[in-house]
Amino acid sequence: MLSLRGLEVFYGPIRAVRGVDLDVQAGEIVALIGANGAGKSTTVRAIAGLLPFRGEIRFDGRTLQPNAAERNLRAGIALVPEGRGILGRMTVEENLLMGLYGRSDRAEAATDMARMRERFPILRARADALASQLSGGEQQMLAIARALLSRPRLLLLDEPSLGLAPKMSDLVFRLISSLRDEGVTVLLVEQKARQTLRVADRAYLLETGRVVTSGTAAELSDDSLISETFLGGTTGRAQHG
Ligand SMILES: Nc1ncnc2c1ncn2[C@@H]1O[C@H](COP(=O)(O)OP(=O)(O)OP(=O)(O)O)[C@@H](O)[C@H]1O
Ligand SMILES: [Mg+2]
Repeated sequence: MLSLRGLEVFYGPIRAVRGVDLDVQAGEIVALIGANGAGKSTTVRAIAGLLPFRGEIRFDGRTLQPNAAERNLRAGIALVPEGRGILGRMTVEENLLMGLYGRSDRAEAATDMARMRERFPILRARADALASQLSGGEQQMLAIARALLSRPRLLLLDEPSLGLAPKMSDLVFRLISSLRDEGVTVLLVEQKARQTLRVADRAYLLETGRVVTSGTAAELSDDSLISETFLGGTTGRAQHG
Protein backbone atom coordinates (compact mmCIF):
# COMPACT_ATOMS: atom_id res chain seq x y z
CA MET A 1 0.00 0.00 0.00
CA LEU A 2 2.80 2.39 0.97
CA SER A 3 6.40 2.16 -0.06
CA LEU A 4 9.32 4.47 0.53
CA ARG A 5 12.47 4.06 -1.51
CA GLY A 6 15.57 6.06 -0.77
CA LEU A 7 13.58 8.74 1.05
CA GLU A 8 15.70 11.78 1.88
CA VAL A 9 14.52 14.92 3.61
CA PHE A 10 16.62 18.02 4.20
CA TYR A 11 16.09 20.98 6.48
CA GLY A 12 18.41 23.39 4.77
CA PRO A 13 21.80 21.70 4.97
CA ILE A 14 20.63 19.15 7.58
CA ARG A 15 19.90 15.71 6.15
CA ALA A 16 17.25 14.55 8.63
CA VAL A 17 16.20 11.45 6.67
CA ARG A 18 19.03 9.65 4.86
CA GLY A 19 17.73 7.10 2.42
CA VAL A 20 14.87 5.29 4.12
CA ASP A 21 13.23 2.21 2.53
CA LEU A 22 9.98 1.18 4.20
CA ASP A 23 6.86 -0.76 3.24
CA VAL A 24 3.40 -0.92 4.72
CA GLN A 25 0.93 -3.52 3.45
CA ALA A 26 -2.81 -2.93 3.59
CA GLY A 27 -4.22 -3.95 6.96
CA GLU A 28 -0.92 -3.80 8.81
CA ILE A 29 0.10 -1.81 11.85
CA VAL A 30 3.70 -0.87 11.19
CA ALA A 31 5.76 0.91 13.83
CA LEU A 32 8.54 3.40 13.30
CA ILE A 33 10.62 3.45 16.46
CA GLY A 34 13.56 5.65 17.27
CA ALA A 35 15.09 8.02 19.77
CA ASN A 36 14.68 11.81 19.80
CA GLY A 37 15.82 13.36 16.56
CA ALA A 38 16.00 10.06 14.64
CA GLY A 39 13.83 11.45 11.85
CA LYS A 40 10.50 9.77 12.66
CA SER A 41 8.33 12.89 12.45
CA THR A 42 10.18 14.06 9.38
CA THR A 43 9.41 10.74 7.68
CA VAL A 44 5.68 10.78 8.39
CA ARG A 45 5.41 14.48 7.59
CA ALA A 46 6.97 13.78 4.21
CA ILE A 47 4.47 10.95 3.62
CA ALA A 48 1.60 13.29 4.55
CA GLY A 49 2.84 15.75 1.94
CA LEU A 50 4.01 18.42 4.35
CA LEU A 51 7.66 18.54 3.29
CA PRO A 52 9.83 18.49 0.22
CA PHE A 53 11.73 15.22 -0.22
CA ARG A 54 13.98 13.24 -2.54
CA GLY A 55 13.51 9.59 -3.40
CA GLU A 56 10.21 7.88 -3.95
CA ILE A 57 6.98 7.57 -1.99
CA ARG A 58 4.34 5.33 -3.56
CA PHE A 59 0.83 4.93 -2.23
CA ASP A 60 -1.58 2.50 -3.87
CA GLY A 61 0.65 2.28 -6.89
CA ARG A 62 0.81 6.02 -7.40
CA THR A 63 3.85 8.20 -6.86
CA LEU A 64 3.26 10.95 -4.33
CA GLN A 65 4.56 14.43 -4.99
CA PRO A 66 6.35 16.47 -2.32
CA ASN A 67 4.30 19.14 -0.53
CA ALA A 68 0.98 17.73 -1.75
CA ALA A 69 -0.80 17.48 1.60
CA GLU A 70 -4.28 18.15 0.32
CA ARG A 71 -3.95 15.67 -2.54
CA ASN A 72 -2.56 13.04 -0.19
CA LEU A 73 -5.44 13.56 2.22
CA ARG A 74 -7.89 13.02 -0.62
CA ALA A 75 -5.97 9.92 -1.61
CA GLY A 76 -6.63 8.55 1.89
CA ILE A 77 -3.63 9.50 4.02
CA ALA A 78 -4.35 11.19 7.35
CA LEU A 79 -1.76 12.41 9.85
CA VAL A 80 -2.24 12.85 13.58
CA PRO A 81 0.77 15.07 14.16
CA GLU A 82 3.13 15.07 17.11
CA GLY A 83 1.52 17.27 19.75
CA ARG A 84 -1.91 16.35 18.33
CA GLY A 85 -2.61 19.52 16.34
CA ILE A 86 -5.81 20.25 18.23
CA LEU A 87 -7.11 23.83 18.04
CA GLY A 88 -7.47 24.65 21.71
CA ARG A 89 -9.59 27.76 21.26
CA MET A 90 -12.18 25.91 19.21
CA THR A 91 -14.73 23.55 20.71
CA VAL A 92 -14.41 19.80 20.67
CA GLU A 93 -17.24 19.63 18.14
CA GLU A 94 -15.60 22.22 15.87
CA ASN A 95 -12.34 20.31 15.98
CA LEU A 96 -14.18 17.13 14.99
CA LEU A 97 -15.96 18.88 12.13
CA MET A 98 -12.58 19.86 10.71
CA GLY A 99 -12.05 16.17 10.09
CA LEU A 100 -14.80 16.30 7.48
CA TYR A 101 -12.88 18.85 5.44
CA GLY A 102 -12.88 17.89 1.79
CA ARG A 103 -15.65 15.31 2.08
CA SER A 104 -18.60 15.83 -0.22
CA ASP A 105 -20.71 12.83 0.90
CA ARG A 106 -22.76 14.84 3.38
CA ALA A 107 -25.14 12.13 4.55
CA GLU A 108 -22.39 9.62 5.16
CA ALA A 109 -20.26 12.26 6.82
CA ALA A 110 -23.09 12.97 9.26
CA THR A 111 -23.37 9.25 9.99
CA ASP A 112 -19.64 9.10 10.63
CA MET A 113 -19.89 12.06 13.02
CA ALA A 114 -22.67 10.30 14.93
CA ARG A 115 -20.60 7.09 15.08
CA MET A 116 -17.58 8.98 16.34
CA ARG A 117 -19.62 10.53 19.16
CA GLU A 118 -20.80 7.06 20.10
CA ARG A 119 -17.35 5.60 19.98
CA PHE A 120 -15.80 8.39 22.05
CA PRO A 121 -18.45 9.26 24.67
CA ILE A 122 -16.10 11.80 26.23
CA LEU A 123 -16.12 13.81 23.02
CA ARG A 124 -19.91 13.83 23.01
CA ALA A 125 -20.08 14.79 26.68
CA ARG A 126 -17.58 17.63 26.16
CA ALA A 127 -18.74 18.64 22.67
CA ASP A 128 -19.17 22.32 23.56
CA ALA A 129 -16.08 22.61 25.74
CA LEU A 130 -12.99 24.28 24.40
CA ALA A 131 -10.58 21.62 23.20
CA SER A 132 -7.88 23.13 25.43
CA GLN A 133 -9.95 22.10 28.46
CA LEU A 134 -9.64 18.41 27.66
CA SER A 135 -6.94 16.32 29.30
CA GLY A 136 -3.97 15.27 27.20
CA GLY A 137 -5.43 11.82 26.67
CA GLU A 138 -8.82 13.21 25.69
CA GLN A 139 -7.14 15.56 23.23
CA GLN A 140 -5.34 12.60 21.70
CA MET A 141 -8.67 10.79 21.30
CA LEU A 142 -10.05 13.93 19.67
CA ALA A 143 -7.09 14.13 17.30
CA ILE A 144 -7.50 10.49 16.29
CA ALA A 145 -11.28 10.79 15.94
CA ARG A 146 -10.82 13.87 13.78
CA ALA A 147 -8.35 12.05 11.54
CA LEU A 148 -10.69 9.05 11.23
CA LEU A 149 -13.45 11.36 9.99
CA SER A 150 -11.55 11.81 6.76
CA ARG A 151 -12.02 8.04 6.29
CA PRO A 152 -8.32 7.45 5.82
CA ARG A 153 -7.01 4.20 4.46
CA LEU A 154 -3.61 4.98 5.92
CA LEU A 155 -3.40 6.66 9.30
CA LEU A 156 -0.08 8.16 10.35
CA LEU A 157 0.17 8.53 14.14
CA ASP A 158 3.09 10.54 15.47
CA GLU A 159 3.84 9.62 19.11
CA PRO A 160 0.20 9.39 20.19
CA SER A 161 1.11 8.25 23.71
CA LEU A 162 3.61 11.04 24.37
CA GLY A 163 3.08 12.72 27.73
CA LEU A 164 0.04 10.64 28.65
CA ALA A 165 -0.56 9.01 32.00
CA PRO A 166 -0.09 5.20 31.82
CA LYS A 167 -3.82 4.47 31.86
CA MET A 168 -4.52 6.87 29.02
CA SER A 169 -1.53 5.60 27.11
CA ASP A 170 -2.92 2.04 27.41
CA LEU A 171 -6.26 3.28 26.10
CA VAL A 172 -4.60 4.86 23.09
CA PHE A 173 -2.70 1.65 22.30
CA ARG A 174 -5.94 -0.34 22.58
CA LEU A 175 -7.63 2.10 20.23
CA ILE A 176 -4.81 1.64 17.74
CA SER A 177 -5.16 -2.16 17.76
CA SER A 178 -8.88 -1.80 17.20
CA LEU A 179 -8.27 0.22 14.04
CA ARG A 180 -6.88 -2.82 12.27
CA ASP A 181 -10.25 -4.56 12.60
CA GLU A 182 -11.84 -1.64 10.77
CA GLY A 183 -9.55 -1.88 7.81
CA VAL A 184 -7.47 1.17 8.67
CA THR A 185 -3.80 0.66 7.98
CA VAL A 186 -1.51 2.35 10.50
CA LEU A 187 2.02 3.69 10.49
CA LEU A 188 2.74 4.34 14.14
CA VAL A 189 5.63 6.50 15.32
CA GLU A 190 6.58 5.77 18.90
CA GLN A 191 9.38 5.78 21.42
CA LYS A 192 7.65 3.35 23.77
CA ALA A 193 9.03 0.27 22.08
CA ARG A 194 7.62 -2.37 24.38
CA GLN A 195 3.97 -1.32 24.13
CA THR A 196 4.38 -0.50 20.46
CA LEU A 197 5.73 -3.94 19.59
CA ARG A 198 2.73 -5.45 21.33
CA VAL A 199 0.26 -3.80 18.92
CA ALA A 200 2.38 -3.66 15.75
CA ASP A 201 2.79 -6.37 13.12
CA ARG A 202 6.19 -5.14 11.99
CA ALA A 203 8.55 -2.37 12.95
CA TYR A 204 11.48 -0.33 11.72
CA LEU A 205 14.10 1.15 14.00
CA LEU A 206 15.34 4.54 12.83
CA GLU A 207 18.64 6.01 13.97
CA THR A 208 19.93 9.38 12.75
CA GLY A 209 17.81 9.24 9.62
CA ARG A 210 18.52 5.63 8.66
CA VAL A 211 16.76 2.31 9.19
CA VAL A 212 19.15 0.26 11.31
CA THR A 213 16.94 -2.77 11.78
CA SER A 214 13.48 -3.96 10.82
CA GLY A 215 11.37 -7.08 11.11
CA THR A 216 8.26 -8.54 12.67
CA ALA A 217 7.29 -7.27 16.09
CA ALA A 218 8.25 -10.64 17.55
CA GLU A 219 11.69 -10.52 15.93
CA LEU A 220 12.33 -6.99 17.09
CA SER A 221 11.27 -7.72 20.66
CA ASP A 222 14.35 -9.95 20.74
CA ASP A 223 16.55 -7.59 18.75
CA SER A 224 19.57 -6.40 20.69
CA LEU A 225 19.54 -2.91 19.17
CA ILE A 226 15.96 -2.36 20.29
CA SER A 227 16.28 -3.99 23.67
CA GLU A 228 19.44 -2.11 24.56
CA THR A 229 18.19 1.24 23.43
CA PHE A 230 14.55 1.10 24.44
CA LEU A 231 13.77 -1.87 26.60
CA GLY A 232 16.38 -1.37 29.27
CA GLY A 233 18.77 -4.10 28.10
CA THR A 234 21.57 -4.90 30.49
CA THR A 235 24.33 -6.12 28.21
CA GLY A 236 26.33 -3.02 28.98
CA ARG A 237 26.93 -2.02 25.38
CA ALA A 238 27.01 1.67 24.64
CA GLN A 239 23.67 3.10 23.62
CA HIS A 240 23.26 3.57 19.92
CA GLY A 241 22.63 6.96 18.39
N1 LIG B 1 12.02 22.40 11.19
C1 LIG B 1 13.26 21.92 11.33
N2 LIG B 1 14.34 22.63 10.98
C2 LIG B 1 15.60 22.14 11.11
N3 LIG B 1 15.87 20.92 11.58
C3 LIG B 1 14.84 20.16 11.97
C4 LIG B 1 13.48 20.60 11.86
N4 LIG B 1 12.68 19.62 12.31
C5 LIG B 1 13.49 18.62 12.67
N5 LIG B 1 14.78 18.92 12.47
C6 LIG B 1 15.95 18.06 12.74
O1 LIG B 1 15.80 16.88 11.95
C7 LIG B 1 16.17 15.74 12.70
C8 LIG B 1 15.01 14.77 12.77
O2 LIG B 1 13.95 15.38 13.50
P1 LIG B 1 12.54 14.68 13.71
O3 LIG B 1 11.66 15.67 14.35
O4 LIG B 1 12.08 14.05 12.46
O5 LIG B 1 12.92 13.53 14.74
P2 LIG B 1 11.98 12.57 15.59
O6 LIG B 1 12.50 11.20 15.38
O7 LIG B 1 10.56 12.81 15.27
O8 LIG B 1 12.30 13.01 17.09
P3 LIG B 1 11.34 13.16 18.38
O9 LIG B 1 11.22 11.80 18.94
O10 LIG B 1 12.08 14.08 19.26
O11 LIG B 1 10.03 13.71 17.92
C9 LIG B 1 16.64 16.25 14.04
O12 LIG B 1 18.03 16.36 13.99
C10 LIG B 1 15.98 17.59 14.17
O13 LIG B 1 16.75 18.46 14.96
MG1 LIG C 1 9.01 13.49 16.34
